[in-house]
Amino acid sequence: MNISVKLPDGTYGDPEDLGTNPTNNENFATIVERRLSRRDALKGFAATAAVGALTVGGISPLVLNDALAQAASSIGFKEIGRGADENHHVAEGYKVDIVARWGDKLWADAPDFDPNKLTMAAQEKWFGYNCDFIGYFPLPAGSNNSDNGILAVNHEYTSPELMWSGITQKNALDKATKETTEVELAAHGMSFVEVRKDGGTWKIVPDSRYNRRILLHKTPIEITGPAAGHNRMKTNGDPTGKMVLGTANNCAGGKTPWGTVITSEENFNGYFGGDAEKTAEAETHKRYGVTKVSWYAWWKFHDRFNTEKEPNEPNRFGWNVEIDPYDPASMPKKRTGMGRFKHEGAGFIVNPDGRVVAYSGDDERFEYLYKWVSNGRFNAGNRAANMNLLDDGILYVAKFSDKKVQWLPLVFGQGPLTPSNKFESQADVVIEARRAGDLLGATKMDRPEDVEVSPQTGRVYAMMTNNTSRKADQLDAANPRANNTFGHVIELLPPGPDGSRDHAAMEFDWEIFIKAGDPSKPDQGAMYHPQVANGWFGSPDNCAIDPKGRLWITTDQGSAWKATGNSDGAYVTETTGPNRGLTRLMFRVPIGAETGGSEFTPDGKTFFISVQHPAADGVAEDQNFDNPATRWPDFKAGIPPRPSVIAITKRDGGEVGS
Ligand code: FEO
Ligand code: CA
Ligand code: CA
Ligand code: CA
Repeated sequence: MNISVKLPDGTYGDPEDLGTNPTNNENFATIVERRLSRRDALKGFAATAAVGALTVGGISPLVLNDALAQAASSIGFKEIGRGADENHHVAEGYKVDIVARWGDKLWADAPDFDPNKLTMAAQEKWFGYNCDFIGYFPLPAGSNNSDNGILAVNHEYTSPELMWSGITQKNALDKATKETTEVELAAHGMSFVEVRKDGGTWKIVPDSRYNRRILLHKTPIEITGPAAGHNRMKTNGDPTGKMVLGTANNCAGGKTPWGTVITSEENFNGYFGGDAEKTAEAETHKRYGVTKVSWYAWWKFHDRFNTEKEPNEPNRFGWNVEIDPYDPASMPKKRTGMGRFKHEGAGFIVNPDGRVVAYSGDDERFEYLYKWVSNGRFNAGNRAANMNLLDDGILYVAKFSDKKVQWLPLVFGQGPLTPSNKFESQADVVIEARRAGDLLGATKMDRPEDVEVSPQTGRVYAMMTNNTSRKADQLDAANPRANNTFGHVIELLPPGPDGSRDHAAMEFDWEIFIKAGDPSKPDQGAMYHPQVANGWFGSPDNCAIDPKGRLWITTDQGSAWKATGNSDGAYVTETTGPNRGLTRLMFRVPIGAETGGSEFTPDGKTFFISVQHPAADGVAEDQNFDNPATRWPDFKAGIPPRPSVIAITKRDGGEVGS
């Protein structure tokens, strides 16, 4: 996301740059050289070291020859060049359809998009702003139909300077009115929209019975699990503590094995104003970054976002929310057992023993990586039997050492999670999952974003997007670079062979898969396959695994795209074999945009990507609604840039990436 707000020191900047972890959780005293020679030289990366893109040393010429012996790659497209301009770019032989733009009608009776007439009522019937996570759900349910399905799409946040004339990032808070905040509320949440491939082109199906908006000001969501009904979840609007209106700052998400969507609440703290320090929840709010600094003016017009009036409302955000896309009348559920933090998303897998495991990052500098394991078993033959699986399970937080990662249970009464540390029940543990992780000594990571499990191998890929606040004396094995501008990708290896790894195990092996950055500049310490030349990147954010098991990484560099000279994009690599780590650039977004969520159809022939906040990141201060850096995708005078879901398909009808 890209928001500029007045920071406590009076300067303007990105609120995501404020870390809130106060602990001194141990950094592992691992010697960097030893780590590099032992760990990075392992497996398919031997060649990286030997070729000299990195000076790692200690690799025999024999290994070098093996690794460079080119095996046939399953990736056949010609990479696009690097750069940043007003349009998107895709590899030769592919095409891009604009599937759903901000303001597209989900119902035929909605008003046509008119950027000069934004109203809450119209926005409620339009596709929302700043699309991120995308889940594709084939129609009919249970099929593998790759030409017709439901897209479940998050609308993470709004960019007022690109929605209204006369607004800049600096005056947005002062110029906000009740009416503009109402449009913003309605532009958040989610869209469920039926899409169909017609004559090779993906289009929205207006008035489909599956079309639905999840609205922050309107959609009731049940609170389930250990925190449901707890006093800390009660507000004036909801004395039961079991029902909340809407969901906010939905970043990434996930798909459960039973065909529901998880939408993940990330930077919820930014929506609350008032003085949280005056409330009984002051300490907890501080740990989650709920301060006097609100990124929006909502709290001035809507009491629930004023912490002095509703001190518990922030406790009702920061959860994973489960929604059934196939039943538009169904009640969404906030699954509190999965913990409260700035959830990036949720990567699911059915463990060999039938338990369901979900991995989730807490996207902030120096926060933690989590997994959740169900107590019950997935029932492949009875969908209804799985519908409350997410209310009964155990949340774990990751503690990395030089070779292993341990999963530490966040269970009330165990270890330090007791009344002597102000935990009175499991409700307190999940509401304050961050503090529970602090006490357990979890490893402070470089902003854990998306996590995906390869269904083919069971290996787990976790994106550490960046952390320029990490100092040289704060290094550990899993976060090995100071001033980590470019981020890295960690590969978790649960015990067992590929295809039947035990995700419920308390201890895994792990490797660093990629260190992002420019491999031609040794001082950046990048690490890829040695043949990476054009396809290097910074700030891995979201990822997807295609039906062939290849890993697709989409980036979010923020304004740092200027440092790489490349707008954000989609990069693909094989994860096994001699081409492991050989990343290639297939697609990049227009200037100022970020590549958000991405998703394949089951046949691998369509790759959906969210193009979020075009014209926002790293552009000149006077480039706004009136004078945007790009008018993508319409390129019409008076029409501002519009965040959109796009579909990439191969012109010859083949699989994407082939
Ligand atoms: Fe919304 Fe973690 O990016
Ligand atoms: Ca993200
Ligand atoms: Ca993903
Ligand atoms: Ca991000």
